[in-house]
Amino acid sequence: MAVETPLKGVIGDSIRRKEDDRFIRGRGNYVDDISLPGMLHMAILRSPYAHAKIKSIKTDAAQALPGVVAVVTGELLAQHKLAWMPTLSGDTQAVLATDKVRFQGQEVACVIATEPYIARDALPLIEVDYDVLPAVVDPWKALDAGAPLIRDEKEGQTSNHIYHWEAGDKAATEEAFRKADRVVTLESFYPRCHPSPLETCGIVADINSATGNATLYMTSQAPHAHRTLFAIVAGLPEEKIRIISPDIGGGFGNKVPIYPGYVVATAASLLIGKPVKWVEDRSDNLISTGFARDFHMRGELALNDAGKMLGLRVKLLSDNGAFFADAQPTKFRAGLFHIVTGSYDMPAAFVEADGAYTNKAPGGVAYRCSFRVTEASYLIERLVENAAVEMKMDPADIRLKNFIKPEQFPYKSATGFEYDSGDYPRAMQLALDKIGYKELRKEQAEKRKKGELMGIGVASFTEVVGAGPGKHYDIVGLRMFDSAELRVHPTGKAILKLGVKSQGQGHETTFAQIVANELGIPAADVEVQEGDTDNTPYGLGTYASRSTPVGGAATAVVSRKLRDKAKKIAAHLLEASEADIEFDQGKFFVRGAPSKSKTIQDIAFAAYTNIPDGMEAGLEGVTYYDPPNMTFPFGTYLVVVDIDRGTGQVKVRRMVAVDDCGVRINPMVVEGQIHGGLTEGFGIAFMELITFDEEGNCLGSNFTDYLLPTAWETPKFELFETVTPSPHHPIGAKGVGESATVGSPAAFVNAVIDAVAHLGITNIDMPVTSDKVWAALNEKGAAE
Ligand code: CDP
Repeated sequence: MAVETPLKGVIGDSIRRKEDDRFIRGRGNYVDDISLPGMLHMAILRSPYAHAKIKSIKTDAAQALPGVVAVVTGELLAQHKLAWMPTLSGDTQAVLATDKVRFQGQEVACVIATEPYIARDALPLIEVDYDVLPAVVDPWKALDAGAPLIRDEKEGQTSNHIYHWEAGDKAATEEAFRKADRVVTLESFYPRCHPSPLETCGIVADINSATGNATLYMTSQAPHAHRTLFAIVAGLPEEKIRIISPDIGGGFGNKVPIYPGYVVATAASLLIGKPVKWVEDRSDNLISTGFARDFHMRGELALNDAGKMLGLRVKLLSDNGAFFADAQPTKFRAGLFHIVTGSYDMPAAFVEADGAYTNKAPGGVAYRCSFRVTEASYLIERLVENAAVEMKMDPADIRLKNFIKPEQFPYKSATGFEYDSGDYPRAMQLALDKIGYKELRKEQAEKRKKGELMGIGVASFTEVVGAGPGKHYDIVGLRMFDSAELRVHPTGKAILKLGVKSQGQGHETTFAQIVANELGIPAADVEVQEGDTDNTPYGLGTYASRSTPVGGAATAVVSRKLRDKAKKIAAHLLEASEADIEFDQGKFFVRGAPSKSKTIQDIAFAAYTNIPDGMEAGLEGVTYYDPPNMTFPFGTYLVVVDIDRGTGQVKVRRMVAVDDCGVRINPMVVEGQIHGGLTEGFGIAFMELITFDEEGNCLGSNFTDYLLPTAWETPKFELFETVTPSPHHPIGAKGVGESATVGSPAAFVNAVIDAVAHLGITNIDMPVTSDKVWAALNEKGAAE
């Protein structure tokens, strides 16, 4: 039955973000805004060398500077068994270097002082005597027999090799390649880049020596998991640790790992008995914390003469830096890279991955993607582009020919995923129609006759987001479920507490919309709380687009639990049988007698004032949701570029993005997510790069060298959607936060390749800068 005034702010409404009110007024509360009485400040001395023995560290001069309270070295931490810490991938990482430094920017010593500037001023007064060792920068050379051993402190570690990992069926794949008419090969490097959130990482550690209570204000994307890790690593009792993740100015995976600065600030607060604040500056952030990507990949695609894909073989080498600190599910050494078969019905696939230590910062975070899916998506889409070039097929046609068909879902991939739902041809067709594909191809042919370079890039992606289920996915043993606790107060207003933690994604709005949808309480009346471990149920946090698939599902389920109880109270109030009570948009009414009704607000009041005999008072509940499967958002992105032969400059003329993330909770928020993701994809395709010279010096340690796109160079995006609900998600939603960064780099690069492939140029590694394009054109005698 329809009610007269539709409820505002339910699923599908583009209501404005509640949280923006405080952000726009400059009233957000970030870690650096926190100031506690007696608070001290910490700064970190970092290694100038990529690889060097530490002969001695002299701290006297720094210690003598007025205002300096303590200088912490690895030796001091070692006395408390804190010089090394475990990483999220089961390796160890130096908190402060004791024996040698293994990357430029590694943490060597910390100064704690009364003022932040005094702490900084004291850093150059620390004298470190280094014995410089040869740096290992290239991961292939790192695996050579005679390469300098980076992790010589690890028992049994005799090389720089970290892991070998495989997925898929080797024999079936070999067979597919034997039968193939054609094999297309691509050597591809997805370079190192950095999430670089506007707010860098930081902590205010406050350990009360009288009570033993540790309150840690942290820029944490996973506060509950961090609490448990702190308890295990530092030996602190977990009930005494409270992690508060206040407003976060962007995370993008950068705020998932535990960094040495967090550990030292906490240890310092414990030893000194005062709160200690540490906030990174921009270079600290870029050179030492959670980089992303750095995969060297070789892909081979087996096809028959008709362009049907028969098999995929991938070998990759991951450059993990000096410590294997990828933030990813434990069982998957190369993350979820085995989604590399993409959107295609690939009968056989085999993936081999190896990891290597190099003298670079550790990281490998899920930067705006589910673990390593961006690298996978890039490789398959670049391979398919080159297959189209080699086979003289249209890039859209070859995809349409090989897509998993809508009727094949749920689809079991050759590497072990079960895709929940999809309609890839529909998304592709919509993108082709919106951009006017046929006309653009005609225009391209005309331009080519005149010697002009124009390219149309195609990329279709399939993301995999929303880990668990817990039985397959865990991080350091913690099962990947998530939680929601909902309390409805007597006046009908509610508080929703979540185990996930927004870093700008708008959870305070969108999760309230789920409650509005399920229970009929207006979104404006639902206060969403996240990030305080004392005040929210346990969860694994927000990264890899898991909030909606897992936390959003938990929210729907807990709301339904409360709705069931509300129905019982409604039956009691309306003197009807519970079986006869129906619910629509916040109203409970007797079937066939719609005028006999009670609102959710009436029922909330009754839950505390007038309940049936034997019922517990109150209207609240908690759900720990373990998803039965991941969700698989998808889409097609098309890009048009024009290239100047004189300069190699690539101009993005148009970009059409069709995304399908199932049911959209708040379409405006989703569009915002896609805009952000496309901008990040654009940045990586054309500008962003963290690279190193032969001595291991990081070239990209500031925003002059590490180029982020601004509104000035970012193209206009034209967004469209299809809606294919996830069958297992309670509201049919899939995640979206990561998709655009995953799907778009290949579309941008494919557009460039499409413009120049007829000249014999079929590969240019990212970032595709004008000098690289010009050099490639020049080599073929096509530059002006
Ligand atoms: O985990 P994270 O919040 O980064 O990613 P997400 O779950 O993909 O959600 C990003 C934002 O988009 C959240 O505010 C979601 O509620 C919203 N969203 C939506 O409105 N509809 C969807 N189908 C998916 C996400």
